[in-house]
Amino acid sequence: MKRIVLGIESTAHTLSAGVAQGDGKNIEILANAVDKAPHTKKGFIPRLLAEHHSRVFKKTVESALKQAGKGMHDLNAIAFSQGPGMGHSLRVGFVGAKALAGLLQTPLLPVHHGIAHIEVGKWECGLRDPLVLYVSGGNTQILILDEKEKRYRVLGETLDMGVGNFLDVFAREFGLDSAVDVMHSAAKGKNLVEMPYTIKGMNVSFTGLLTHCIRNFKPKVERRELRLEDVCFSVQETVFALLTEATERALLHSQKKEVLACGGVACNTRLKQMLSEMAKENKVWFGSPADGYNRDNGAMIALVGVKMLGAGKTRFPEGLQPVQKMRPEAQEITWA
Ligand code: FE2
Repeated sequence: MKRIVLGIESTAHTLSAGVAQGDGKNIEILANAVDKAPHTKKGFIPRLLAEHHSRVFKKTVESALKQAGKGMHDLNAIAFSQGPGMGHSLRVGFVGAKALAGLLQTPLLPVHHGIAHIEVGKWECGLRDPLVLYVSGGNTQILILDEKEKRYRVLGETLDMGVGNFLDVFAREFGLDSAVDVMHSAAKGKNLVEMPYTIKGMNVSFTGLLTHCIRNFKPKVERRELRLEDVCFSVQETVFALLTEATERALLHSQKKEVLACGGVACNTRLKQMLSEMAKENKVWFGSPADGYNRDNGAMIALVGVKMLGAGKTRFPEGLQPVQKMRPEAQEITWA
């Protein structure tokens, strides 16, 4: 039986509403309306993000329903990003989703944000059981699905900050707006500057590298002794090599036949190039979804909602709440 789910995403800077329809196996995404809060020089301020999300909530949901050609009463459930994320942002999405589910008398489905990135990636790339590199602002993890336990297991992760946050802080320190500008600047660099490289088994670390760049390279760039483009190029090469090495180690350990890269940082073409070369050398498939699904979006939350309904999961404990530091293991993969 086909069900229709509205998914609400609000873990960080983006408020998004998506609509998905299906029976749990065959799923279509009908709409993906996205409204990202404007970037500021100081990065994102939690209170301002919450204000943005509450201001655009109604119009984003209306726009998603219009795109999907559906009305409120066609919805069989409301899914929301439960975590991990920023407290203020998460709460706006949660309250909105809960109010809608209450009004429509439909189930309210809690979805782990990272698992939604994985599931939409698998869906779009046609992968069945990949080793996953999930890379975004606050998250950097290597995961596999344990079908028996019905949980994703983390094989490796960052020991401090997420790679996206690392790139954002680095960008601001060097006078750039965001991680995207680091990528553009890196494209014009060609001289590799040696940098600290911290990997422990399948875990990686970025704070030492960040401090090193600020202490040693920032003054040289300011004095024009070093080109910013070369520092950006070297930073990218270093952090993506770290991630590719950790992923390759996890691949050899897990013996998976597919690799998926997902999350906002997986929009970076250099990272995808390194991973796809590594996959080719190991004779496994590599996939990464379109940027619209790698960035934060409500469609992926709706897609997981449809999978949950398909697996007959509609009841959750009373008093659901957003969880800022939600681990992927917290979500039962009932549809596996
Ligand atoms: Fe994300």
